[in-house]
Amino acid sequence: MDARTAMSYLPENPYSGEQTVVFFQNLIEDPGDLVLKAELEDGRIGGFGVFGEGRIDHLYVHPEHQGQGIGTKLLTAAQERFSHLEGWVFEKNIGAIKLYERNRFGVVEHTNGSRNEEGEPDVRIVWLGEDTAASSARAHTDVD
Ligand SMILES: CC(C)(COP(=O)(O)OP(=O)(O)OC[C@H]1O[C@@H](n2cnc3c(N)ncnc32)[C@H](O)[C@@H]1OP(=O)(O)O)[C@@H](O)C(=O)NCCC(=O)NCCS
Repeated sequence: MDARTAMSYLPENPYSGEQTVVFFQNLIEDPGDLVLKAELEDGRIGGFGVFGEGRIDHLYVHPEHQGQGIGTKLLTAAQERFSHLEGWVFEKNIGAIKLYERNRFGVVEHTNGSRNEEGEPDVRIVWLGEDTAASSARAHTDVD
């Protein structure tokens, strides 16, 4: 919730804290989704990703722990499990687009925002495929 609140370019979240918790609880319990959690040293969850077959549905890192490589770990762990991945990112979310581009995603489509709930222009990002050299050099991640 804090990560969503920090996305200041978005309109105010129309859902209550309770509605958001129920929404994510349902997602986490859906056996059709892959949910990856990044555990901090103290056992709390620093970030999580929800992935459908070939889809990035959610990727969130707590604002206090952003910029420490957690988002990259979650994304690369998903890349190890799927052969295709794609998703949507708000155009103003430069940080997330950078993260995807550094992990071999490309922007393939721009919208004017009329198709999403927030009415914000967004871009479709698609994983361009495995870089063999990078994949063999990739360190083991502690995400599960
Ligand atoms: C986007 C997000 C998941 C990235 O997670 P993270 O753990 O902070 O990312 P990492 O530490 O692995 O960063 C990897 C790279 O991503 C880019 N990046 C990530 N966040 C950035 C930011 N706020 N500003 C600029 N670049 C950023 C950088 O290129 C960074 O590389 P660097 O460390 O060499 O600068 C996280 O910032 C977040 O939860 N944001 C709010 C929710 C969101 O935007 N989710 C994505 C929607 S699809």
